[in-house]
Amino acid sequence: MKIAVIGTGYVGLVTGTCFAETGNTVTCVDIDVNKVTKLMSGEITIYEPGLEKIFLRNLKEERLFFTTSLELGIKDASIIFLALPTPPGEDGSADMRYVLGVADELGRLIKDYKVIVDKSTVPVGTTEKVREAIAKNFKGEFDVVSNPEFLREGVAVDDFMKPDRVVIGTKSGRAKKLIAELFAPFVRQGNPVIFMDERSAELTKYAANSFLATKISFMNEIAQLCERMGADVDMVRRGIGSDDRIGKRFLFPGIGYGGSCFPKDVLALVKSADDVNYKFKILKAVIEVNENQKLHLLPKIKKYFNDDLKGKHFALWGLAFKPNTDDIREAPALYIIDALTAAGATVCAFDPEAMNNVRQTIGDKIEYAENQYAALKNADALIIATEWNEFRTPDFQKMVSNLKNKVIFDGRNLFDKAAINELGFYYESVGRPGIN
Ligand SMILES: NC(=O)c1ccc[n+]([C@@H]2O[C@H](COP(=O)([O-])OP(=O)(O)OC[C@H]3O[C@@H](n4cnc5c(N)ncnc54)[C@H](O)[C@@H]3O)[C@@H](O)[C@H]2O)c1
Repeated sequence: MKIAVIGTGYVGLVTGTCFAETGNTVTCVDIDVNKVTKLMSGEITIYEPGLEKIFLRNLKEERLFFTTSLELGIKDASIIFLALPTPPGEDGSADMRYVLGVADELGRLIKDYKVIVDKSTVPVGTTEKVREAIAKNFKGEFDVVSNPEFLREGVAVDDFMKPDRVVIGTKSGRAKKLIAELFAPFVRQGNPVIFMDERSAELTKYAANSFLATKISFMNEIAQLCERMGADVDMVRRGIGSDDRIGKRFLFPGIGYGGSCFPKDVLALVKSADDVNYKFKILKAVIEVNENQKLHLLPKIKKYFNDDLKGKHFALWGLAFKPNTDDIREAPALYIIDALTAAGATVCAFDPEAMNNVRQTIGDKIEYAENQYAALKNADALIIATEWNEFRTPDFQKMVSNLKNKVIFDGRNLFDKAAINELGFYYESVGRPGIN
C-alpha cells in the first residue's frame, strides 16, 4: 500500500518506519526542513531502541521517503496518517491548530478517495472537525478515521510491531477494509483490532493515559504514607501487585510522571470534562499529586544540608523523562534543576541519550559529564532522576572515590537499601525508610 504520514516526530517516524518494514511504500512529511534533510540523508532524529536499523534498511530499500511538501507526500497515498502535535493550549485543552491546519490543507490537495487516519491524541469530536475542514474544499468521497496510538517511548518499535490492540474508530466499511488490511501483519498473533465509533476511539486514548497516570499518582500517595508511617512502599507494592485485579505494572513510586503525553492528556481530559459540565475530581487530584511529587526529593535534600543549598554542587543521573528515550518534555529532572539552581546550587548531569536535547533547552545552566562517574566529581550529593538500566548496578567504589560526600537522593528507588547501607551511604529514596 502507499501511505503518507504527516508529522515525523516520535509517533510519525516510528509509524512510517514500521509500515515500511511490512512492505508498504511510505512518505513521511514534516514542516521542519532540518529534520527532513537529516532523515533523507540517513540521519535519525530521535533515539528509540531498534528504530535506526529498520529506518536505514527501509530507506536503502526505497520503501521510506521524506519530504517537506504535503502535496507530494500525499499524491499517491491511499491512506494518510496524521501524527501531528496536540500540545496543551493556555487553558489546558489540546491545541488543535496543527491537526485542523493540515486538514484544511488536505481539503485543497486531495484529488481522489483517501482515508485520513488521525493518530494524534485529540479531544472527542475532532474526527468530525477534520472531516468538516476537508469537506470545505474537497467535494469528492473520503473517510476520516480515529486510530489512537498507544506506543510507549523507549519500546515504541516493539509496541508498534506487536500492539496489545489496535483501536479503530469509524463507521465506514470501505475505510475499515483498508485499515484492517494494513494492520493485519501487526496482529498475526491474534491481538484484537477493535472497531468502534470515532468518539469512543478518541476517548479510549485519554482514558488509557489518565488511568495509568492515576495508578502512578496513587502509588506516589501510598509512598507518602509509607514515609510517614514507617512502612516500605516496595513491600506494599509487591503485596498489592500480586493481586491480578491490580496488576504489577505502573505501581512504582518515584518523582512523578512526565513526558509529552501523560501531563498534557490528563489535563486535556479534565478540560474536556469541564466543557461538558463534569468535574473530573479524580484526575484533578492526580495532577496535583504529580505536581508535588516532582519536587519530592527537595525537602529531603534541604534537610540534609540544613536548608542551605548555596554553593552546593550536585551530580544528577538522568535527564530524560524516562529511560530508553531522549525525550525531555516535562521531565522531572528539569524541575529539580530549576529548584536547585534557584537555591544557589550547581549541577553536573549525565544522561546516556538526553543531554543534547537538554543542552538545546537550558544551555550552560548546568554542566554535562562524559559519563555517569565523571558527573560525580566533587559533588556534595548524587541525585537520581531517571531509572536508566546502567545506573542500577554501578561501581560503588568508583562512586565513593569521585563523590565528595557519600550521599544519594534516589528519585527512582534504584538501590537495595541494605547493600547501600553496608557501603556507608546516606541514602534517601521514595516511600522507603531512609538510611542515615
Ligand atoms: N510521543 C508519544 O509517546 C506518543 C504516544 C502516543 C500518542 N502520541 C500523540 O501523537 C501526536 C504526536 O506526538 P509526537 O510525540 O510524535 O510529537 P512530536 O512533537 O515528536 O512530532 C510532531 C511532528 O509534527 C511536525 N509538524 C508540525 N506541524 C506540521 C505540519 N503542519 N505539517 C507536517 N508536520 C508538522 C513537527 O515538526 C514534528 O516533527 C500527539 O498528539 C501525541 O499526543 C504521542
